[in-house]
Amino acid sequence: MISKKMLKVHNGKEIYQFTIQNEHGAELVVTNFGVTIIAIRMPDRNGKLDEVVLGYDDIETYIKHDGLYFGSIIGRYGNRIKDGRFQLNGKTFQLNRNESSNHLHGGRVGFDQKVWESEIQEDSVVFEYFSPDGEENYPGNLSTKVRYSLSNGNAVIIEYEANCDQDTIINLTNHAYFNLNGATAEVYDHLLTIDADFFTPTDNELIPTGELRCVGDTPFDFRNQRRIGESVCDYDHEAIAIGNGYDHNFVLNGEGERKVAELYDPSTGRLMEVITDQPSMQFFTGYKIPESSKGLNGKVYGPYYGICLEPDVSPNSPNEADFPNCILRKGEVYTNVCKYIFSTK
Ligand code: GAL
Repeated sequence: MISKKMLKVHNGKEIYQFTIQNEHGAELVVTNFGVTIIAIRMPDRNGKLDEVVLGYDDIETYIKHDGLYFGSIIGRYGNRIKDGRFQLNGKTFQLNRNESSNHLHGGRVGFDQKVWESEIQEDSVVFEYFSPDGEENYPGNLSTKVRYSLSNGNAVIIEYEANCDQDTIINLTNHAYFNLNGATAEVYDHLLTIDADFFTPTDNELIPTGELRCVGDTPFDFRNQRRIGESVCDYDHEAIAIGNGYDHNFVLNGEGERKVAELYDPSTGRLMEVITDQPSMQFFTGYKIPESSKGLNGKVYGPYYGICLEPDVSPNSPNEADFPNCILRKGEVYTNVCKYIFSTK
């Protein structure tokens, strides 16, 4: 069941909120402003529904843009491109720089700040955005489509599609911050596994150095379940200090659509599996969330109250020949799928 409500008119465009409810009463609440996930409500081991992502009650907070990107689609290129510069077909492109000298999450006005076209299609909501040639200095007219669905098996499914009339670069993902304890505390006690043998160390500006480092004997080894709180404040470890916790890209094992991560909260029994066909994943522990931030339904958030698990291609891939391909050729169709499947244990 999907209900739709108008929230406001912004720059002449209507912003809506859609609530998708499945037959178990689980909910996915989204808006066409930034194709943002406002809330996901899932049962704990006693059947009690609660929010498992961070969000805001008021659309104005999203419009004001606090730099946290709660639940939004980030693009055209999620995460960082060094100096905002890359070469394609022998030509240099200089993107807008919005984080010191670098380009972050699509630039000054990224996809998270756009009002997308929206349409309910059976059990899903489909959003479309046309990004004109030269927007944020990216090449080509890019047409993007994102579909959100909620299955009766409690899976939140995000499907992306795009095409461009010129060769360009692309890296779309969703910036949801998960907290399986209903955001009643930091995520320290969550247990995480990530199926990755390597991660990408970064410089001080969080740009990958190009090295793929083995996770063995480091706080980045999530191949077996690891408590997030165990190392998130281990600032003696250089990479943790740079990221103020985790803010790193993991090179996912395997290829094609596969399970790449699992997050478990022992206190509520909620479990989330991450399925994707993407080669990498950014893991961010949300140190930037300000103390005493007002969240959904009177909840109060702070640093480390939510974690992002964003399947993607690695940051700065346009400048690293050995990183995954992020080039979308003229006439080709870009696709990308991500499923967050919830259950209890
Ligand atoms: C993450 C990024 C972080 C931070 C965050 C938004 O994807 O890796 O460094 O910028 O987004 O606050």
